[in-house]
Amino acid sequence: MDPDYRHTYLWQVDKNCPDPEKIRQAGLILRQGGLVAFPTETVYGIGANALDIDAVKGIFTAKGRPQDNPLIVHVADIEAVYGYTVHVPRMAGILMEKFWPGPLTLIMEGNGRISGPVSAGLSTLAFRMPDHPVALALIREAGVPVAAPSANVSGRPSPTTAEHVRADLQGKIDVILDGGAAGMGVESTVLDLTGDIPVILRPGGVTLEQLTPVAGPVDWDASLAENGAAPARPRSPGMKYRHYAPSAPLILVEGMHRGVVLEINRLAREYILQGKKVGVLCRSGSCGKYPGVIVMTAGREHDHASVAAELYDALRRFDATGVDVILAEGVEDRGIGTAVANRLRRAAGGRIVKVENSDGYK
Ligand code: TXA
Ligand code: MG
Repeated sequence: MDPDYRHTYLWQVDKNCPDPEKIRQAGLILRQGGLVAFPTETVYGIGANALDIDAVKGIFTAKGRPQDNPLIVHVADIEAVYGYTVHVPRMAGILMEKFWPGPLTLIMEGNGRISGPVSAGLSTLAFRMPDHPVALALIREAGVPVAAPSANVSGRPSPTTAEHVRADLQGKIDVILDGGAAGMGVESTVLDLTGDIPVILRPGGVTLEQLTPVAGPVDWDASLAENGAAPARPRSPGMKYRHYAPSAPLILVEGMHRGVVLEINRLAREYILQGKKVGVLCRSGSCGKYPGVIVMTAGREHDHASVAAELYDALRRFDATGVDVILAEGVEDRGIGTAVANRLRRAAGGRIVKVENSDGYK
């Protein structure tokens, strides 16, 4: 038998008012070194006591996560951050007040009390306070900071339901708290506050448009401009791995919508002639425009939040179809669409086709 095998309990909890007894037990399991998956307002996380090195190592084993990819420390109140940092920058105070609880992860200098595998040897730590009653109740009950990456096997799309977590981590973790579908569907924005101006390392649930009125000028990590090809040395180590990816290779087609539909149909014909089974990922409005292929939809045209909410589930559903290649419609790089576009580019791993685009994405 696998020496790392764990029996995985699946506990249903009410999203808004989780059963205190289940939260008490899950909190105890966390505090004592176990691994508990829980819903957040972005995606499901898999948590361990951040102060327990062995527990944290267990997360890396369960996910098959590269050792050099640090974890986000989840807290249930702003004050907790002060206990684990050298100093909280003024901007961090402002952003925590404005956006916490919420999908914004802030990078600051750690004071060494949380170290080892959580920070993957970096001097900095990532903090976030999730906006979800189950996550907050669990962290409070555990009474410790909770290191938690997304609850997927490394490289796979992040889980937005307890069923996704079960599919990836059954037998590898102790408990899954099933609080229904996670909210936004894409992960938090990761913002580095260790320099003079804040730098976005990963676009996510809090958009640039929401950040700049509060934070002033904000930079983008240079690696984000590399169109999904794995950057050599990003400041967020996780960004260098192919991620969010279904089993089949994904080709992303970006540009004006009409041109995108034509190009996807042209590519589909080419692949079909090669004897390949083709999948197309599109918005619901264009699902009738791709004959002869397996179509999965994620969200509606011009409603980026709906695409975010359904994207990872759609990518996972392709795995059951046995398609050889997936052709995906691009998403406009604006608002929450920026995070969606980033995940699609990462899933494509650099295989991006840009169609002639004279008047912006429509
Ligand atoms: O919405 C989310 O953020 C979800 C939920 C569960 O909270 N969590 C999540 O964790 O997406 P994960 O581990 O899948 O992604 C964390 C990202 C990785 O790209 C990692 O490299 C980066 O944050 N990160 C963590 N600590 C860092 C640090 N000290 N410096 C730079 N990047 C860091
Ligand atoms: Mg992840």
